[in-house]
Amino acid sequence: MDALRILITRRWPVEVERAMAAQFDVVLNEGDKPLSQADLAAAMGEFDVLCPTVSDRIDADVIGGGDRVKLIANYGVGFDHIDLAAAKAKGIAVTNTPGVLTDATADIAMTLLLMAARRAGEGERELRAGQWSGWRPTHLVGSALKGKVLGCVGFGRIAQATARRAHHGFGMKVAYYARRPADEAVAQELQAEFTPDLINLLGKADFVSLHVPGGAETASMIDAAAIAAMKPGSYLINTARGGVVDHAALAAALRSGHLAGAGLDVYPAEPQVPAELLDIENVVLLPHLGSANSETRIAMGMCAMANVEEFAKGAELPNPVT
Ligand code: DGY
Repeated sequence: MDALRILITRRWPVEVERAMAAQFDVVLNEGDKPLSQADLAAAMGEFDVLCPTVSDRIDADVIGGGDRVKLIANYGVGFDHIDLAAAKAKGIAVTNTPGVLTDATADIAMTLLLMAARRAGEGERELRAGQWSGWRPTHLVGSALKGKVLGCVGFGRIAQATARRAHHGFGMKVAYYARRPADEAVAQELQAEFTPDLINLLGKADFVSLHVPGGAETASMIDAAAIAAMKPGSYLINTARGGVVDHAALAAALRSGHLAGAGLDVYPAEPQVPAELLDIENVVLLPHLGSANSETRIAMGMCAMANVEEFAKGAELPNPVT
């Protein structure tokens, strides 16, 4: 049987590209430029497997572009950029890479939390601009973490890993909003308080960290009313998806001082960053770095490849999302 013909839409770590090319008929995107919607649609008729990332919009038009692709093996855990209903209607399986990026993303959530709390971005900008006039007791004073409440919105793997770091590493208390309580062992370990009402959680958290999937169900979940319900002087951290937050309302709350700060890694229409945030000092803005360490990016590629390998054998897929 001929090897599966596979399109990898962006550069992957070279170890994984080589491992893929050793087994399959792989086309790489050497220049790493995002493919157009027309290129992605055409690929649906030219390849057996499409391996996209969060930077590709695999909508119904793309999926309708051809009949050859039978597996979309996403490089990444989030899949709100893929129209699952359209894929299902055409009998196309969709897989993702859960588990392997949990620690890396929790590390970035803590990075943002620390940077926002300790005003690290402001300090670095000031120093590089030659504006630092020296140590003084009132200079760039931030917030302590010990004893403060981390409120997780969503309490899946990444939220729990973030809470673990915050609780055991920094002495924070943990509360969470989720559809159902966490396993007893996890709740005990983190002394995490289940808060089934979102507004309630927002009112008691000193730091709110978002960990819900993107998509229609969570669009603008943190809107003007939710932000108004946040504790005065609290912080918002988002490593989930940009569409979860109303950024105009967030900008207004940062400017008014209702929120002390925010740390964001994700945006609704990446790589665009909501313009109203760019000149606000008390927001830390990272370019979607959640999973960006070498070990994790290799593990994500290996996980996507494992799904392709099982698909090639006609076996059960390890990480189906449909
Ligand atoms: C993920 O895996 O969902 C990351 O956000 C990158 O897509």
